[in-house]
Amino acid sequence: MTETLDIKITKTKNSRLQETDFNNLPFGKTFSDHMFVADYADGEWKNFEIVPYGEIGLSPAISALHYGQSFFEGLKAYKHADGQVSVFRPNKNAARFNKSAERLCMPELPEDIFIQSIAAIVDIDRDWVPAKPNHSMYIRPFMFATDPYLGVAPSTTYKYMVLVGPTGPYFSKVLRVKIETYFTRSAEGGMGYAKSSGNYGGSMFPAKKATEEGFDQLIWTDAKDHLYVEEMGAANVMFMLDGKLITPSTRDTILDGVTRDTVLTMAREWGMPVEERRVSVAEIIEGAKNGKLTDAFGAGTAATIAAVGSISHNGEEYFLSDPKTREFSQKVLKELDAIKYGSVPDMHGWNYMV
Ligand code: PLP
Ligand code: COI
Repeated sequence: MTETLDIKITKTKNSRLQETDFNNLPFGKTFSDHMFVADYADGEWKNFEIVPYGEIGLSPAISALHYGQSFFEGLKAYKHADGQVSVFRPNKNAARFNKSAERLCMPELPEDIFIQSIAAIVDIDRDWVPAKPNHSMYIRPFMFATDPYLGVAPSTTYKYMVLVGPTGPYFSKVLRVKIETYFTRSAEGGMGYAKSSGNYGGSMFPAKKATEEGFDQLIWTDAKDHLYVEEMGAANVMFMLDGKLITPSTRDTILDGVTRDTVLTMAREWGMPVEERRVSVAEIIEGAKNGKLTDAFGAGTAATIAAVGSISHNGEEYFLSDPKTREFSQKVLKELDAIKYGSVPDMHGWNYMV
């Protein structure tokens, strides 16, 4: 039985809600009035607090800064037409949070603390959840090591925090993507399956180079031969090839996405042939050439369903069909939104009502 978390709440005296421009919400720049904070020490989680959003004091010697003992999650809250607020599949993020924690030698956070912390912060700042199509409240739970110690060893103390903020879509256009054939995001035995901060730090240089070449995103490939597709920088990748929905099977180099799982579940329920397997670069390029690749998109919480307009490989760019004409990704985006915003019944119990 879940016990109710004892959270000390200090409300802000100066809400920023009225001065926030809800017509201009680029991803990740606007934070609500409050944040959730907890500490781990002496083998237990304690000091559960909601405080006004703001800076925190930290030792400059914390190992999160020096050795990257740090990871995060990302999920969203949605406002329904009747004003209710739901969070999408937070139990999946709770489970992945603990997979990341294990990989980084960091303490697990009991699932009910994860869920209750999110419910509490979303509830207190529920007026910040935008009531607009394609908009939501992004929820960013994260944990980092706080021992002021420069030895390379797991910290004994940690902080867990949750930030929330209203946001629009992460990608504002159809993506021009490049299949990366030199750099790697993660290798077998590495931590690609964890939402470890270092994975993102390490991806910025290759992403910057791709941006300089005019691309919006990379499709990462296997570290060994660069012959198999893995995922995109902030989303899993899916293709409609020869009438089948195909996506790389999850392994230790790939993040096991919640959106990925949701899309696959829906596709199977619609009777669509689905294949989770190794996906070769060669078959994708072949499909782009012969017209059998009829859809390609990124699937992620921030990304939602992000259409891929063209795929480049070894200097050759292959253009796909107009995203507006793509049957599957249009349908899946529509249905997914309908569930998240509560306009159709939630048959899977995916919406956690706050
Ligand atoms: N892959 C990476 C590297 C990501 O950062 C994300 C975003 O969270 C995803 C995939 C998609 O995962 P999810 O659908 O759980 O957001
Ligand atoms: C998310 O979709 O929640 C992500 O974590 C992507 C983020 C790195 C921008």
